[in-house]
Amino acid sequence: MYTPSWRIIGRGVYWLSIPDVNTRLFENMWPIPSGVNYNSYLVADDDEYLLIDSSKNVYNVEEILRLLNQVSGLNRIKHIAVLHSEPDHSGLIGEISKRIGNPALYSTLRASSFMKSMFNVETGIVKDGDTIRVGGRKLRVIELPWIHWPDTMFLYLEDEGILFSSDAFGAFGALEKPVFDDECDFEQYMLSAKEYFATVVAAYRQMVMRALDKIGKLGLNLRMIAPSHGIVLRSRIPEFIKELTSWCTLKSRKKVTIIYGSMYGLTEQLAKYACEVVKNMVDEVAVHNAVVSSVNNVLTDVVDSAGVIFITPTYEGNVFPPLSSIVELLRIKKIGSGKLAAVTVTKLWGGTAANQLSSKLGEAGFEVSHVCEYVNYPGGRDLTEYENILHGFLEKLNSMVSKLL
Ligand code: FEO
Repeated sequence: MYTPSWRIIGRGVYWLSIPDVNTRLFENMWPIPSGVNYNSYLVADDDEYLLIDSSKNVYNVEEILRLLNQVSGLNRIKHIAVLHSEPDHSGLIGEISKRIGNPALYSTLRASSFMKSMFNVETGIVKDGDTIRVGGRKLRVIELPWIHWPDTMFLYLEDEGILFSSDAFGAFGALEKPVFDDECDFEQYMLSAKEYFATVVAAYRQMVMRALDKIGKLGLNLRMIAPSHGIVLRSRIPEFIKELTSWCTLKSRKKVTIIYGSMYGLTEQLAKYACEVVKNMVDEVAVHNAVVSSVNNVLTDVVDSAGVIFITPTYEGNVFPPLSSIVELLRIKKIGSGKLAAVTVTKLWGGTAANQLSSKLGEAGFEVSHVCEYVNYPGGRDLTEYENILHGFLEKLNSMVSKLL
C-alpha cells in the first residue's frame, strides 16, 4: 500500500515518507512508472519541532496534516525549512504553514524570492554557515546552489550527523514504507538513482562535484544522508558517492548505445545490423528505438557509454523528430561531453539531416567522428562499407577508453 507514513531515523528525527504513484511524468516530462517519493523530515527537541520540506500537492493537505499530527501535533511545529523551492517539495508549505499557525520559515535568499513569486509565501533568509536552532539542537546551513535549482541548501544536524540533502542523493520510485539502504535491494535501487541523475540532475553535474568537494572539506561526522526523494542512506554512503562521482564525470565504459528511428522498418534493419557488428567489439550494447524507448532509459545508457551511434531516416528534409527530441535533451544536458558519436542517415531524395544531426551532437559535447549517408536501406557492397566504418568507429572508441583506464 502506497500511503504516507513515518519512521524514527534518529533521536528526535522523523522521516515522513510521502509516496506518489499517481504522477506519470516527473516534471511533466520524465516517465516514472514506479512513481516517486517525497521525503520530509521533522527534527524535535522536547516540544519544539522543525519541519524540513513538504511534498507536491498530490495529496489533500488534510492527509499530510494528519501525518504531522501523528508525529508531533501541529502546534509544536515552530519552524519550517525549505531546502529549495521546487513545487514537488514546497507545494504544500503555504497551506501547512497557515494551518499550524505561521511558524518561522527559512530558506536561501533565492528560494525566498521564488517562494514569494510562486506561492506568495514569505520565508526568512538563512545563509551558508548559519545555524537553525531547534531547542538546544543545531542544524548547520550549507548553501549548495544549482543542485539542481539555483536556490538549494542542505541542512546538517550536528548531534546526529544527519545531512538533509534536498534533491542530491535521490532516486525515482515510490516507497511502500520508509527503508534504509541496508533494508532494500541496493543494486536495484542504484539503477533508479542513476536514472534520476541522468534525467533531473545531469546538467548540473559539475555543481554536484563541487558540492561533494565542499561537504568533504567541511569534515562532517556524516552518519546518514536524508534526501528529498528515495531512501535514507546510512550503510552504503561511500558506494553511493563513488557511483555519483562516476556519473558526474560521465565516466565511460566500453559500452555503445545505439539510438535509432524508423518510419517503415527499413532504417531499423540498419540499426540491427549495426548492433550485430558492435556487440562483438565492446562490453555492452544498449539499443533504443527513439519512438518506443523511455527517454529516461536512453539518457541513462548514454551517461556511461563511450560512444553513441545515431541512426535516423530523413523526415521532410530533417532528422526524424522523435530522435531529434532526444538529441535536443542531450544538447541541453551536454551529456555527450568526452564521448564519440557516429551518425547514420538514410534518405530517398535529399535533405540535410546528416549536417543537422552532426551539428546538434557537437553542441551536446560529442566528437562526431563518423558520418554515413545512404539512399534508403543500403545493401551488398554498401553494407560491407558500413561495417568497415563501424569498425573504424569502434577502434577509435576502444583506444579512447584504454587511455582512460
Ligand atoms: Fe525534487 Fe528539485 O525537486
